[in-house]
Parts: sequence; structure tokens; C-alpha cells
Amino acid sequence: MSETDKLSLQDAAEEHERLSEYLQEQNRAYYQEDDPNISDAEYDALLRQLKELEATYPELMKEDSPTQTVGAAISRGFGKVQHTVPMLSLDNAFDNDDLREFEKKVKRFLGRPVTEDVAFFAEPKIDGLSASLRYEKGKFVRGATRGDGREGEDITENLRTIDDIPLELKGENIPDVFEVRGEVYMAISDFQELNAGQAEKNAKVFANPRNAAAGSLRQLDVKITKSRKLKFFAYAWGEVSETPADTQAGVLQKFEEWGFVVNPYSKVCQNMEEAIDAYNRIETDRSSLDYDIDGVVFKVNRLDWQERLGFVSRSPRWAIAHKFPAEQATTKLLGIDIQVGRTGALTPVARLEPVNVGGVVVSNATLHNEEEIERKDTRIGDTVVIQRAGDVIPQVVEVKLELREEGAAPFEFPKTCPVCGSHAVREKNPTTGKDDVVRRCTGGLICRAQAVERLKHFVSRNAFDIDGMGAKQIELFYEKRLIKAPVDIFRLEENDKRSLTKIKNFEGFGDKAVKNLFEAIDARREVDLDRFIFALGIRHIGQGNARLLARNYLTIGALMDVFDPDKDALGLAYADLLNIDGIGGAVADAVREFFAEPHNRDLLTDLLKEVKVTEFEAPDLESDVAGKTVVFTGSLELMTRQEAKAQAESLGAKVSGSVSAKTDYVVAGAKAGSKLKKAEELGVQTLTEREWLDMIGKGTA
Ligand code: IVH
Repeated sequence: MSETDKLSLQDAAEEHERLSEYLQEQNRAYYQEDDPNISDAEYDALLRQLKELEATYPELMKEDSPTQTVGAAISRGFGKVQHTVPMLSLDNAFDNDDLREFEKKVKRFLGRPVTEDVAFFAEPKIDGLSASLRYEKGKFVRGATRGDGREGEDITENLRTIDDIPLELKGENIPDVFEVRGEVYMAISDFQELNAGQAEKNAKVFANPRNAAAGSLRQLDVKITKSRKLKFFAYAWGEVSETPADTQAGVLQKFEEWGFVVNPYSKVCQNMEEAIDAYNRIETDRSSLDYDIDGVVFKVNRLDWQERLGFVSRSPRWAIAHKFPAEQATTKLLGIDIQVGRTGALTPVARLEPVNVGGVVVSNATLHNEEEIERKDTRIGDTVVIQRAGDVIPQVVEVKLELREEGAAPFEFPKTCPVCGSHAVREKNPTTGKDDVVRRCTGGLICRAQAVERLKHFVSRNAFDIDGMGAKQIELFYEKRLIKAPVDIFRLEENDKRSLTKIKNFEGFGDKAVKNLFEAIDARREVDLDRFIFALGIRHIGQGNARLLARNYLTIGALMDVFDPDKDALGLAYADLLNIDGIGGAVADAVREFFAEPHNRDLLTDLLKEVKVTEFEAPDLESDVAGKTVVFTGSLELMTRQEAKAQAESLGAKVSGSVSAKTDYVVAGAKAGSKLKKAEELGVQTLTEREWLDMIGKGTA
């Protein structure tokens, strides 16, 4: 007999009411406030109990029972969707000169004369959330959020409720597969109406239309999404079996024919000066629009050129965003808190009298570092100007010295770490001889803040991405001494078995939650090399550099081996590292130091007993040049040097600046000199440009 069978009807009714009320409360917290206070697993477990009760005592079931209102949604999570074509972000231009520089770079890359016009397509940058909609044979089959760009969440059912998203494409000759991408947003008028209604119901009001759109889209209860009047502008695409036009403008025209809404301000501009005019017009009209835009996006109009330009790291070389100037407000500086980051940097954070900056209430802002405080002579009690731009953390940009009250004392920046008490120092930069602008805690591993921040980084979305293991859990497990180093995460289950204080008894956990957590950890015992490198939190190694290292070294074993100080007494590995295009001195130093440090090597050795790091997959494994090292020399005639390099890299080859015995091919253009000679001496295969293009299957390009 189960627990529920043993209850009397009276007890069951009471239990039913208690559970229903609690779940309804949780639904509100989750769906309307976007602020859940129990874990998904706990919610699921309680909902199941309620269902069991209703199965045994059907008379208890009412129409508004949480088992009925949430419908079929048993789990609160969304499924995952892999983006076969990644969803990228955009580089930013801050003024017209940046735009002109972008235009020059495009021409240089394509090898076009500076005097020739390159047409750009200008589009408003919609302030919403991007989504990818997959159509197969013209039918909408799947829709996903951007997520981390490579993997998003399956929100198909939610997207189906949006009127601007056709369930079936109109017209003839629709490609078999077509992923339309664009922005889901909420009109300002709908946002105001929604907030008025929310306020009346005493429910959460949203800070801005973007947040409201986000909160409305990621709803397991599709009925809520439907009630929120979301809209969609189409402006890009992902995987396609066929491209229906030759230009950006042409594809957007097709989108309209297929039944999508394309932003009416989108426009072809013959050159950058015309594009700048388009920007000015859009900025002038901005305040009269019924949706938020935060800038203008410029895209090279010709698609063959977009293709040739390709991508760098996470953004296309063929597009740039020019954001509108940041919004500012003036307020009072109430205090300065010092935060300690994962690299020990002491970051001063301004505590402010709350102030509305362009629709968002700001009460904290960054003061950057000690030097900035000195430079601006920022003092507690001062009147300061705060600026907020897009998703960037608000910052203090100016101190109103003329409004300073008498007696305000200069801010005394702490010389010790506020978390561990170790000395905090400003290192000297060896090249400039100047003090570093940042003061750092010297406590290293004994500093709780550094350890915890490093662990948080390790499990974060672009690193190990462990479901259910976020900042809160890391702090808790660190406090309880269950996790001190990354490897402890993977030994958590084992250690929990032996421990007297079980995780399931911690607040916010339960049997099911613990089981889910262990499963989520196990699911990440295999990890891609670039994520792994990024997770290590090596100074200066962001996602882009992590990928660069992964592409060049292919395995973690290779990295550990080449940087083993016992084996590389001559520093050859360091020289090789500097040879990688895109890796500069500071990055190379950081990598070498990290792998030379015995403590880090031990950490890696331990970790590798628990996790399997998959070999970096060259982007195109079919390609014959994947994994090969190529040197381009002489003057190339069929493509620019930059283009040749980008193309080789996209096929998984490594492009090096100098010829050595490790070089596989030297591609020599006209007037090739010493590098070609060296290749011949070393017996490295040399190719003409044409031979190279044939080899990579671009013979006709
Ligand atoms: S193009 C590779 N066009 O801005 C192309 N993005 O910073 C990448 N966005 O994630 C996107 N309006 O959410 C593009 N007209 C527009 C846009 C736009 C808004 C957003 C989008 C993207 C972000 C990139």
C-alpha cells in the first residue's frame, strides 16, 4: 500500500488542499515572477504526490487543481536543441569612425579597391530575444532559444502561439530545410498593458519590454505565452538546404513572401555613408516606435561576400552593430563595496541611491578598479553619473566634483583582501614598469572568494554547464566543505555516501533533487576540449582563446605535455604558442605559467581521472587539411591573405607564420622568398595558390 492509500478521506482532503495551495504558490513564483524558490525536481515530486492523491480519491480533483492547470507539463525543464549553424553575436561599433573602419576591413579582406562601393543592409537592432525556427518542407517543426549559441532550449510550443510566426510557409519553391532566425519582442503598448494588469493582480511587474518578452516566452504553460501578445521580426537564418536569393535584402524579401514580418526600416545602402544616414534616420524615429530598439545592425548585402568573410570567434566578419549612446542618470554614492573575483582582482562596486536609468532601476554599479577611483577621485557621498548600455553592467562614468560636500574624505582602497585578509597588491607590469591598475589578493587558493568564484566559473554555462549546480549550490557545498576543488564535484556522490551529513537533508534538496544533481554531474563527465580549457579559468583565456588553443593542440594531454617545464627547458613550446595567430604575449605568458605551476598540474591530473576530455573536432572532418599546419607566403592573387587564413582555419587547418619541420604545406604566391626556400630545404610540400584551392575543393572559387 502506498502512503496515500493509508489516509482517511478527511486527511486526504486536507493534504490535497495543502499541496494544491503550495504548488499554486510555486507556480506563481515560477511562471509569473520568474523567481522559483524550490528546485524543479522537488516541484515534480510534489506534483506527482498530488496526482497520486487524486488517483486514489478522484472526488478531490477540481478544475483548478495544479494537476489540471499546468496540463501535461510534468517537468519544468525544456528540451535541448543543438544549433547546427551556431547563433552568433555581433561586434560593436561605437561611433561613425568605427563603422568606416569596419567598411575598410571588409574591403581589405575581400581584396576590393578602397574606392569601390560595398553595399550594406541596415536593420534596426531589435531589443528582444533571438529565436531559431526550423521549417521542413515548409512546415514549422521546431523552435529554439539562442542559449549559448550552440545549444538552445526547445520552445516550439511557445513560438507556435506567436501570430507573426507562420506555421506553414506561403508560396512556391520553398527549400526543404530552412531555419529562419529573428527576434521575439513585446510591443511597448502591450508591455504597459501587461504591467498594469500584473500590478492589479499584485503580480510581478516587469522592468522593461525585453524582460517581459523573456518571461513570457520561457513558460511551460503555453497558455501564458499565448496571452502575452509576443511578436517576431525575421532577419537571419541558420541551416538551410538552399539559399533563395543572392543578397541579404533578397532573402528578407523572400521571408516576407513566405509570411514573416520584416522590419520596415530595413534598407539597402550603397556604401557606408548612406548606411550612416540610415542610422541617423532610425535614431530620430526611435522614440516614435512601439518597440524597443537598441541600435542598428549593418550587414554586407552580398551573400557570396558574407560567405567569404565568414566568422571570427563568436561574431561574423560581415556584420556589425552600432548601438545607440548609453543612457545616463545622476545619483548619490552611498558606499563602496569590494568584491573579489576568480583571479583575485579586487573590484570596487558602488552602492547607489536607487535611480532609474532608461527604464531600469539601478542600485549598484561598477567602479572598475583602484586606479579608476584614484583617477576620478571618487569619494563616498559624491554625486555621480551612472551609465547603462544594453546588457553591460552599469558603470560610474563621472563624479560631479562641484557638488561634493565639504569634509568628504578620499576613499581609502583596502590593502588587504576583504575576504581572506591576505595582502592585496598592484603588481608591476614588467614591460611598462608601471603599477597594474588592478589590486589583487595574493591569497591564491587560501582565499575563499577566489576558490568559490573559480568553482562557479568551472560549472558555468560556457564551461562544464552542470544543470542544477549554480552559484548558490557551489557556495553551499563549499561552505559544507564538500567541494574545494573542481575534482570534488565529480566525487560528490561517492563522498556523500560516506558522509554523515547527507546532501538530501540540506535545505532545498531531497532524494529526487540529489539524484538529479548526481545525474547532471555524470552527464558532464565527457566534455569538449575548448570548454574544458575555458573552465580552467586561466587568466586571459576566454572562450575565443580556449577554442584557439583547442584547435591548435587538439588534446589536453598534448597541452600538458608541451608545457611540462621539465620537458621544455628551451621554451620551444612557448615560441610555438606565440606563433599561433591571435595569441599575444600576455596570453602566452598566462598559459605557460598555468601549465608550469605544479599545483595546477596536480589539479589537472586528478580531474582527468574523473572526466574524459574529447579531442577537439576540427570544424570540417571531411576536409583533407584538418589538423594540418599551413603557411601562406608571397603575395596571393586569388584571395587576400586574411581570407586564405580564415578559410584554412574553418577547414580545421592551423595557420602558422613561420616554416618549421612541423609545417605540412607552404602555399606560395608570387615573389615568395625565404619561407619558400626554407620549405624546400626542409622538404615541406609546397603548393601554388591554385593547387591549394583545388586541394580544399574550392578550385572554381
Ligand atoms: S544579426 C550572425 N540582426 O542582436 C547574425 N541580430 O548581438 C547575428 N539582434 O543575438 C544576428 N536585431 O538577438 C541581427 N537585425 C538584427 C538584429 C539582431 C537584434 C540581436 C540578436 C543577436 C544580437 C547580436
